[in-house]
Amino acid sequence: MKKRFAIVSLIVLMVLSLVAGCTKEPEHAAANGDDEPEAPAVKLVAVGECTFAPFEFVDEETGKPAGFDVDLIQAIAEAANFEVEYKNLDWNSLIAALQTKEADLVVSGMTITDERALEVKFSDPYFESGQAWCVEEDSPIKALDDLSGKTVGVQINTTGDYAAQKLDEKFKEEDKPGLSIKRLERAADVFNELKVGGVDAVISDLPVIQEYLKNNPDSNVIIPEPAFTVEYYGIAMRKQDKDIHGLVNKGLATIKANGKYDELYEKYFGTR
Ligand code: ARG
Repeated sequence: MKKRFAIVSLIVLMVLSLVAGCTKEPEHAAANGDDEPEAPAVKLVAVGECTFAPFEFVDEETGKPAGFDVDLIQAIAEAANFEVEYKNLDWNSLIAALQTKEADLVVSGMTITDERALEVKFSDPYFESGQAWCVEEDSPIKALDDLSGKTVGVQINTTGDYAAQKLDEKFKEEDKPGLSIKRLERAADVFNELKVGGVDAVISDLPVIQEYLKNNPDSNVIIPEPAFTVEYYGIAMRKQDKDIHGLVNKGLATIKANGKYDELYEKYFGTR
């Protein structure tokens, strides 16, 4: 009799603990009043082409990637409780790195475009930018249309490259001499090319040209006109990674709401 009671009690206990185990939700476990934040569940790899200051560049002292994008994805990761490692990669390998799973996130001042959106999923926009052009101070080029018949430097397969191609088509439609486009591998190469006289002008993202002028006050380079396109940067991800889309957009919304985004913006661009 005693033995049977013991067995029945044991079974009841087992069933009870099973039920308790099943109903315990992970969210509640995390919010159980512990001060210790839950350890990040996922680790993601972010990549960018690090010659695009102030968005991503290699820090001279540490030899590591630094910049607005690097800090931004770190802040997003902290807000959405994931871990992130940022790596420097060639511009033309960034989207491919998503497909081969070498990377999970492209955070590289990448403009959200319809063509790219066929291949990747973009996060909500995180930065408003635009294409601008610059020349040496004594250049005869005073307006965008003066670029007809001239040579311009761009980073290959960027929106600056596409804008230059459009301009060339426009000139030709107007029966004017076209635009020769020098398409360079790295974003920073365009400025060296302008310096050595390999191109008459450069087309790039306005904040990046502004940063170049700031870091090279003796360059005599000027930005004669405001930006001529409006573009938005987004974080690119694999289309199928729905969980990651959610984490990134949630983290971005959180840091926009809690002042962290503004703090980073001020660090790199000053007050708005
Ligand atoms: N915003 C431009 C684009 O998406 C240029 C981005 C270049 N970024 C870089 N890290 N080199 O095409």
